[in-house]
Amino acid sequence: MDLINYEFPKDFLWGGATAANQLEGGFDQDGRGLSIADALPGGKKRFDIVQTPDFNWQIDEKKYSYPNHLGIDFYHRYKKDIELFAEMGFKAYRFSISWSRIYPRGDEKEPNQAGLDFYEKVIDECSKYQIEPVITLSHYEMPLTLAKEYGGWKNRQLIDFFENYTRTIIETFGNKVHYFLTFNEINSAMQHPIMGQGLVPSNGGNEKINVFQAWHNQFVASSRAVKLAHDFNSNIKVGCMLLYATSYAYNADPRNQLANLQNNQDFNYFCGDVQVRGEYPAYTNRLFAKYGFTKSDLKIIKEDLQQLKTYPVDFVSISYYMSTAVETTGITDEQVAGNLMGGVRNPFLKVNDWDWQIDPTGLRIALDELYDRYQKPIFVVENGLGAKDKVARDGKIYDDYRIDYLKSHIKAIGAAMADGVDVMGYTAWGCIDLVSASTGEMSKRYGMIYVDLDNQGNGTLNRKKKKSFEWYKQVIATNGRVLSSDNLKY
Ligand code: BG6
Repeated sequence: MDLINYEFPKDFLWGGATAANQLEGGFDQDGRGLSIADALPGGKKRFDIVQTPDFNWQIDEKKYSYPNHLGIDFYHRYKKDIELFAEMGFKAYRFSISWSRIYPRGDEKEPNQAGLDFYEKVIDECSKYQIEPVITLSHYEMPLTLAKEYGGWKNRQLIDFFENYTRTIIETFGNKVHYFLTFNEINSAMQHPIMGQGLVPSNGGNEKINVFQAWHNQFVASSRAVKLAHDFNSNIKVGCMLLYATSYAYNADPRNQLANLQNNQDFNYFCGDVQVRGEYPAYTNRLFAKYGFTKSDLKIIKEDLQQLKTYPVDFVSISYYMSTAVETTGITDEQVAGNLMGGVRNPFLKVNDWDWQIDPTGLRIALDELYDRYQKPIFVVENGLGAKDKVARDGKIYDDYRIDYLKSHIKAIGAAMADGVDVMGYTAWGCIDLVSASTGEMSKRYGMIYVDLDNQGNGTLNRKKKKSFEWYKQVIATNGRVLSSDNLKY
């Protein structure tokens, strides 16, 4: 039997995570407005398409398919899906609210009641099974109007629109929900500002100064969310959410060590440093200079800095899938892919089907480093293996590779906790198969629940338990003590 030495605390939040635009569907129902995610075509070329100079958020159904419009139809099937989560024993379910379901354009004064009603039902369904909802306020979407007419997050007006939206959410659900996350993988805008900031080349997405201005506005919006939540109910905890890709220097060459230090600061830590410590870090001037501007080129007002300092986040949440390596001396240029960002191939690691490096030890390092830096509780709100699952002749899905991946990462969390890190919980990504964020594919599956749907939108949408379903059920039931799948009934 595969036991680990560390015992997870009784209140550890085991569960799964999803995002509205990747699973809900119902994209034009009950008054929902279009969101930027609705304009993302399916397929591996989706980022190439939206990054062409003339892309202006047009949806062209003759030319492209849009898998996010259907998602996996959670909008109509949420009851059954949450029942399956409950059967696995989830203590927490992380999902996001589609901002454009609540404020269809984003700039209205009054919300769309039908949108609120939907999330009320989802939250109540979770409560029925004592599942703690963990809500992401903005997971790679915003109302399309805010990107098209207002120019995305580089426009300061979005701070007020987001505050209005957040107030509505907190006032409506703040007595039932204790955990909120502000912006999903906020730091990923370094590579793909379309996703979190609504920036494409035609509205300035190619210029880094706009990305940093957008970040500043999001930092202020995040601190306003913390204030709103705490004022409403002091039991609510608000977290930031970082895409964390543990970064190694390729070798001991001091030039690579320095480049790695800076990669960590610029990518892994910059957004967290501001949101957790409440101020811009010391290396900010170096970072801005790298892109040819200074702090005075950004619109940062005095009250903003005060606000950031007064309302930092309560905890840090991360996604962790892979690690990366940094090499600047010319000894290798072999690249590897990754979660919205790649790097140099690390010869010590294996990769998944999409060339992301698998590295559970990197998760332990991530947790140790983050906790050393911030001394705030950490919530691993995304981790998982994207793979092409096959339905076997007997109709079952034997996803032992996924079990191996999840098991090794859970062990790494246990080890980090034994190191002294305060980890609040673990919500495995895409606990039910959903549309991939980077490629818009259904065939890149993360779930413990299989959804019968292919990349072309064909399929019954029926749900089926994979082997990992039974395995995760056992992990949660034993509070992480039994990680082996040896005697599993499936
Ligand atoms: C994270 C996102 O980047 O990783 C999710 O927060 C995403 O939205 C997940 O789905 C996995 O990435 P992908 O591209 O394989 O779907």
